[in-house]
Amino acid sequence: MKKSLIGSLVAAGCAAVFAVSAGAQTIQFAKPEDAIKYRQGAFQLIKTHFGTLQPVVRGQVPYDKDAVAADIYVLDVVARLPWAAFAEGTQGGGAKDNVWSDPEGFNKAKQNFLDSLKPLTAAADEGDLDKLRAAFAKTGASCKACHDSYRN
Ligand code: HEC
Repeated sequence: MKKSLIGSLVAAGCAAVFAVSAGAQTIQFAKPEDAIKYRQGAFQLIKTHFGTLQPVVRGQVPYDKDAVAADIYVLDVVARLPWAAFAEGTQGGGAKDNVWSDPEGFNKAKQNFLDSLKPLTAAADEGDLDKLRAAFAKTGASCKACHDSYRN
């Protein structure tokens, strides 16, 4: 690790204003823009690992059970990342204000998305392409449902 990176990590830790706890994980952001960048980065990872499945369910590439299962494993992990970066005081980015004014609805949309990953994982573990296709569509719908309400 470069010295400057360690320095900035220490500085970020000391100056932390936006500390959020998500389960066992506590993330600290020095300024709201850092939280916005973090959650946008997390969504990009989600997009990449979800998007990888698209040509598979469309039959454009051969179905490789192990590769798909490995990808969904990563998707399931990165899917947990953005939420802690929506702390009070980090309004902005591409997020609508109702993320903060309607936390119940936002949490429900988040939960629908996270729940949709269970049948997706199950289908991948079974190696059942039809089930995978159906679960993929449900997860995609959960992204869209949240974006329609909570993203600009
Ligand atoms: C519970 C709500 C919710 C769910 C579910 C959700 N998103 Fe998002 N997404 C958001 C919000 C809010 C933003 C805007 C974040 C910001 O800019 O601060 C966003 C931003 C993004 C971005 C843009 C990131 C950037 O670089 O600015 C992408 C890409 C994205 N989401 C993809 C997805 C995909 C793919 C899924 C499903 C597999 C998904 N999202 C599920 C709420 C959600």
